[in-house]
Amino acid sequence: MLDKGRLPRHVAIIMDGNGRWAKKQGLSRVKGHNAGMEAMKEIVRASSDLGIQYLTVYAFSTENWKRSQEEVSGIFGLLVKFVKLDLRELDEKNVRVKVLGDYSVIPAAAKKSMDETLETTKDNTGLQFNIALNYGSRAEILRAVNRIQADSLAGKRQGPVDEAEFARYLYTGDENGNVPDPDLIIRTSGEERLSNFLLWQAAYSEFVFTDVLWPDFTPEVYESLLEEYQRRDRRFGGRK
Ligand code: IPE
Ligand code: IPE
Ligand code: MG
Repeated sequence: MLDKGRLPRHVAIIMDGNGRWAKKQGLSRVKGHNAGMEAMKEIVRASSDLGIQYLTVYAFSTENWKRSQEEVSGIFGLLVKFVKLDLRELDEKNVRVKVLGDYSVIPAAAKKSMDETLETTKDNTGLQFNIALNYGSRAEILRAVNRIQADSLAGKRQGPVDEAEFARYLYTGDENGNVPDPDLIIRTSGEERLSNFLLWQAAYSEFVFTDVLWPDFTPEVYESLLEEYQRRDRRFGGRK
């Protein structure tokens, strides 16, 4: 049974397997992403209903530009559809949406919808829903280094950088309300790797992998993985 008093504060999900799901059904990859978007909607809703404070989803990586133009524009088109259609529900549920990653370069229509969503939901105080979009952890770390250097040269900061200050320069830092490190990272579709996701932030995260392909991921599967998390013994290098 899920103990609602011991939920992870921050869950991060690598939503993988849309393409394989589509192939199994004899559908196009974009149809797979559409089904994945529906699954994501349910998981945002479930996270909000459970009272989880932060949910981060890996929606598009800095490496995903290598895919066909048709697939890439399909993914961004679906994103526009999601934020437009579901903005009202997100807002009613008091969800605050944030983007992790450089989304200034995504197609203009998708950027405009995202900007509207961020603006509409910015003062909400419920679940913080982070969408990792054109996100890559190495790019994020280098960006932090370069921003620290720029601030040092401008005289805005000085001296050696410590972990807490470094973290504030990441996408999960000041600009998005200082997101706590993920307690739990879930990856679907049977792959067991990070694929350039939250390398700094995952230092002490628990990992749960499932063979379920992302479009088949339901709130029931989600709850069973949260139960798995609750069976883990987190030690953070200490002894108990
Ligand atoms: C995850 O599904 C979604 C994105 C990476 C955008 P994939 O598209 O990677 O699905 P598979 O791994 O090919 O099955
Ligand atoms: C990771 O999945 C990125 C997202 C889920 C957005 P990929 O399917 O791109 O990762 P690899 O290529 O299998 O490592
Ligand atoms: Mg994949």
